[in-house]
Amino acid sequence: MNKKCVGIIGLGSYVPQKIMTNKDLEQIMDTSDQWIVERTGIHERRVAAANESTSDLATKAARKALEDAKLSAAEIDLIIVATASPDMTFPATACVVQDNIKAINAAAFDISAVCSGFLYALITGSQFIKTGMYRKVLVIGAETLSRFTDWSDRNTGMLFGDGAGAAVLGETPEGYGILGVDLGADGGGAELLKIPAGGSRHPATNETILQKQHFIHMNGNEVFKFAVKVMGETILKALKNANLAASDITYLVPHQANIRIIHSAAKRLGMPMEKVVVNINKYGNTSAASIPIALDEAVKSGAIQSGDIVALAGFGGGLTWASSIIKWCK
Ligand code: UT7
Repeated sequence: MNKKCVGIIGLGSYVPQKIMTNKDLEQIMDTSDQWIVERTGIHERRVAAANESTSDLATKAARKALEDAKLSAAEIDLIIVATASPDMTFPATACVVQDNIKAINAAAFDISAVCSGFLYALITGSQFIKTGMYRKVLVIGAETLSRFTDWSDRNTGMLFGDGAGAAVLGETPEGYGILGVDLGADGGGAELLKIPAGGSRHPATNETILQKQHFIHMNGNEVFKFAVKVMGETILKALKNANLAASDITYLVPHQANIRIIHSAAKRLGMPMEKVVVNINKYGNTSAASIPIALDEAVKSGAIQSGDIVALAGFGGGLTWASSIIKWCK
């Protein structure tokens, strides 16, 4: 059995400059700051500039992660970008990032697991290192969901934001790094959260655009119920996989989708909110970017320290879910 230990050896994140507050949203949709704060925990979100796309945000986060890991781009063997808002249907956004940072020795591909995407990418990337095929893998969660948001739809318009987070994966000392993981999917729930048109089932036509089929469509109540159920379950499975208990977790870094979902996951695990990393108030739901941005902020603020047990957990469209228990090493 291969005993190689793999973990995060560098982190970086980037959010666009432009802030859109709940008050700004009150001007364009039938909503209120009070409703959004009470029902979601979101106060404001970031919106990419007209000349910024997902690869631009990903590139900025990637450069910071490389600097943090003290590596040059040429030392990266593989780039995986997790995104639900790629620059184009193809080529992969990871290829655009590869060219931007001049990671000339890296293979590159995208992963589509919506809000669980970063953890799908992290777990996938770590396998290449565990098997010995690659030494350094760059995984990025990056989104410009503002481009797919109907700003007149109050069921979805207040939730999403833009941003990117990146992690460099590499070998860690024995006993550190990724200790246990869980991945799952239920395609039976595919209809609950989707962008219906623009793909091969409903190619772009004047009609699909007039019907706003190129925007995010979501059954919020059903996704909420699914999230509350799956968040606790997936963390407990990953903990079991790591031979640890919920009481061993130093920090939980959950997908930032709704503060009520985060509270319920913490409650299920018996964790006080002081141990839960929350930044949804500032950025809203940045989908695949939410976990690496929150993790980067928690590490850079000095909250997460070497030796801490960190639980990362997310859920999203697909439906998908994923979690990873990491013994922090830096
Ligand atoms: O990363 C995964 C992505 N998605 C999610 O995680 C979403 C999970 N779901 C949610 O977070 C919540 O379901 C929402 C935040 C989307 C909605 O919150 P809710 O508490 O489930 O509200 P609701 O849809 O049950 O609506 C309650 C009321 C309704 O009014 P009535 O029928 O009771 O009079 C809605 O029309 O709130 C109304 N409402 C709003 N009011 C002001 C719904 N959206 C808004 C809004 N502003 N933006």
